[in-house]
Amino acid sequence: MKKMLLAVLSATALSSAPTWAQGMWFPHEVASRKADMKALGMRMKPEAVYSAAGGGLNESVVHFGGFCTGEVISSKGLILTNHHCGYDAIQSHSSLEDNLLEHGFWAASYADEKPNPGLFVDFVLRTEDVTLAVQSLVSKGQDPAEAMKSVAAAQPKTDASWIYSVKPLFAGNRYVLTTARRYPDVRLVGTPPSAVGKYGSDTDNWVWPRHTGDFSLFRVYTAPDGSPAEYSPNNVPMNVAKPLAISLRGVEEGDFTLIYGFPGRTDSYMPVSEVKQQLDVMLPTRVAMRHEVLRTWDSAMRVDPKVKIQYASKYASVANGWKKWIGQIEGMAEVSGLDTLAAREARVAAFSPQGRALTERFAQENQRLERDRWTALYYQELLPRWELVTWSRLTTAYLKAAAMGDNLDKPRAALRELYQDWNPELDRRAAVRLIAAWNANAQVAHSELDLSRFTQASVASSVPALPAEGTSWDAFDAQAKAHAALGLSGMLREEFNALMARLSPAESAYQSGMKDWMALQLAAAAAGNRQIAADANSTLRVAYGRAGGFSPADGMRYTTHTTADGVLAKYRPGDYEFDLPEAYRAKLEVRDYGPYALSNGELPVCFLAANHTSGGNSGSPAFNAQGELVGLNFDRVWEGTMSDFYFTPQRCRNIMVDIRYVLWVVDRYAGADRLIQEMNIVR
Ligand code: ARG
Ligand code: GLU
Repeated sequence: MKKMLLAVLSATALSSAPTWAQGMWFPHEVASRKADMKALGMRMKPEAVYSAAGGGLNESVVHFGGFCTGEVISSKGLILTNHHCGYDAIQSHSSLEDNLLEHGFWAASYADEKPNPGLFVDFVLRTEDVTLAVQSLVSKGQDPAEAMKSVAAAQPKTDASWIYSVKPLFAGNRYVLTTARRYPDVRLVGTPPSAVGKYGSDTDNWVWPRHTGDFSLFRVYTAPDGSPAEYSPNNVPMNVAKPLAISLRGVEEGDFTLIYGFPGRTDSYMPVSEVKQQLDVMLPTRVAMRHEVLRTWDSAMRVDPKVKIQYASKYASVANGWKKWIGQIEGMAEVSGLDTLAAREARVAAFSPQGRALTERFAQENQRLERDRWTALYYQELLPRWELVTWSRLTTAYLKAAAMGDNLDKPRAALRELYQDWNPELDRRAAVRLIAAWNANAQVAHSELDLSRFTQASVASSVPALPAEGTSWDAFDAQAKAHAALGLSGMLREEFNALMARLSPAESAYQSGMKDWMALQLAAAAAGNRQIAADANSTLRVAYGRAGGFSPADGMRYTTHTTADGVLAKYRPGDYEFDLPEAYRAKLEVRDYGPYALSNGELPVCFLAANHTSGGNSGSPAFNAQGELVGLNFDRVWEGTMSDFYFTPQRCRNIMVDIRYVLWVVDRYAGADRLIQEMNIVR
């Protein structure tokens, strides 16, 4: 009896080892994950998640603009995504007189919905393994890149809206074909004020407890016959036969959740010697470089409201990576993640004699490549941050276009955009610190250029002003041509390109080792009867796990939900991150939560679950065990951002807005009845 119990226990211990690797599965792999998903509480058939024959949840999920995820929540093509995903579109419709960012926006009718040229959504209808097809072309002499293109090109192309793309998985050991359809008329329908959609801003970014209403609403339009079409006033709201069901029941601790979305990149199988290099050398350097920039900008943003506006968005994007990497470094240390990865690696290496040779080779190559990689990183952190470099690049392109007699609208518009948000003196101060940090590192190569020449106050103050709209550019042209920094971008890029010309072939050689290594990973997994998921690569994936908090530190426990009381508790009038519009605060204080309340009467705001997500999963739908929409993914807790290397349900959590908070905002705050009416809400 005891023996049997032990046997059962160890069997479940083995089968409950999803911690082995990462868990972002292709839709077509879901059927083979059935047992695991059921064990975690899924109560729908795998075909309801995805079926090659159609009818799966994937049909309601979109790649939003190619950079985020969204989902269709009505029979009229209403799309839900994050506020930070819709941000650029919202900003483009905002002006001082009509500030959608500040006040929010709720289209009163279809006619009020705002077109966004360039924005599109892709529906992924099919994913399938095409390894054999690609390999057979490779065996006939095509190189893999060519073969991937050939397989994609061989698909039936009825019209330009169909997009077939073949991508390598497991470093080129497998290939997957994605079939998608692109809809290019996507209009802005609604957004809460930024104070709600960005509540907590950078201070709360990557952090739990969280109270951000990070959502916005768009709508897909089609030609009158339902086909995808560029914007036209004759287009009609997309007709959707089976829109998602939205559940007001929510999920509780331990409940099954499933996330569909387009994660961009993970490194779950990176050799441990390289992960170690990332954690010990590369990420700390990036963090330190960004710290210099952020502290410089921050000091000016705090005292100058104009600088605050100019640098807020740049600050947010630089801080986003900075904070994530700190979380990764600390998280890996906290759970001794490298030890776990090393133990895994040793098991795979032991699988064949080639294994140990490979890991040794990686260790040597990582050491050999370290100096060049590290140097490259200084360029990568300096070039995009130092706006004088951008000025030199854009001005050079503009002067060249002028000399050629080309149309100057675009290069001039690009310069105007730069100037709009540029404070050359502040930029100079940040650059001084970045260059000093680079020069202080004795272990890397430094620029041969005398960069201090370009960081003098005289350089910043002599940046030529742009002519007023509609006036002559002659003075600008003359001053720009004579300016000391005109060639800066070209010279720095030349150095960087020379470095990359040396580094890239070495990286390719390293990658060819990765192909062998991943083949071994696959063989070891197959021998152990284990399935492993490919690293994220911006293709449609399914992640699943359980809702619930965790213990971030001894003596502390994060709960599953946050509530509206927490929104009010964080409220700080006048603070740019935690202020709330008076009308919004007043509505919350009335506690008129209606059908959106939890059973204890509180209004849920955000919740946690152990789903493996990454950048690109923003806007992803979170489903309950029956496939009903319960939330909208927008972040991870920073204690668990190391999931990009090592996912463990012990402390990796994704953060979602509870759909009931979204609905409360749309219904009770905005009074946007017409939107609530078109949704399929189930109790
Ligand atoms: N951390 C989330 C992501 O990686 C949200 C970023 C946007 N929000 C912000 N405060 N920067 O995209
Ligand atoms: N905020 C991220 C995004 O925009 C999602 C958070 C993450 O990296 O998991 O995709």
